[in-house]
Amino acid sequence: METRLLKGKPVRDAVLAHLATRLKDAPRAPGLAVVLIGEDPASQVYVRHKEKGCEELGLHHVTHRLPADTTTDQALELVADLNADPAIDGILVQLPLPAGLDEDRILQAVDPRKDVDGFHPDNLGRLVAGAPRFVPCTPKGILRLLRHYEISTRGVRAAVVGRSVIVGRPLSLLLNLKGEGGDATVTMCHSRTPDLAEALRGCGLVIAAMGVPRALGPDMIPAGAVVVDVGINRIEDASRKSGTRLVGDVDAEALMGHAAALTPVPGGVGPMTIAMLLENTCEAMARHEGWHGLA
Ligand code: GUN
Repeated sequence: METRLLKGKPVRDAVLAHLATRLKDAPRAPGLAVVLIGEDPASQVYVRHKEKGCEELGLHHVTHRLPADTTTDQALELVADLNADPAIDGILVQLPLPAGLDEDRILQAVDPRKDVDGFHPDNLGRLVAGAPRFVPCTPKGILRLLRHYEISTRGVRAAVVGRSVIVGRPLSLLLNLKGEGGDATVTMCHSRTPDLAEALRGCGLVIAAMGVPRALGPDMIPAGAVVVDVGINRIEDASRKSGTRLVGDVDAEALMGHAAALTPVPGGVGPMTIAMLLENTCEAMARHEGWHGLA
């Protein structure tokens, strides 16, 4: 079986081109504020990608880089300022936060109408209720990618491996909502699932989002499945000049010829996450302005 590569870059480019066309008639540029606390190297890279995306689309954007010893109160003060800033439509607090910061309090302080990550309980609750406002960017990007490649989720047995609030949990909810991008029968798997191969048996769609490098191979994933690899793990590789390389949560090489389709790492889900962040920021501006030109 030839394994189809589901590349994110062309889909991301199409989303940005569509948004750019719509924004020509917008009342003003959407504004995104990113809060980056500490020195996590992966977060620094992600935030740079987000900044580049904003620039490409002409969004107003600011990044607040704060030291790792920032207190919860200082972070809350910044979030309150951004909530009150009329030029800012979307606020993103980059995760993970350094140890010692109260992540729940900080995320809950973000005005739900500016919560372009969709992590506020108000937005997560709307998602559970089946009427989402902001859909978290990575799950939204995965569903958009599948739609682009005409891979239907309707009636499909899907397994989501990993239960994070950023990816696994909201994605499992979206996949079983009624309608396009949903209507799947979903199994949620995680680190306490005793027999993963058994849980994945018969699944036509497998989403790997555990953050464990190359953990899932052909012994676990059914032949002919569509595989979405959300992992971005840096591992040592002496054959590279840099001494490292990026791999996903699945063993991509071993899945070639086994899976029906696979998202590459890098270049699969990653570009979609950024595209959806930009889209959510544009949606936030449209709502704030009562502008209906985005659809
Ligand atoms: N860290 C990894 N992915 C994400 C994301 O989608 N949003 C935020 N805020 N932090 C992240």
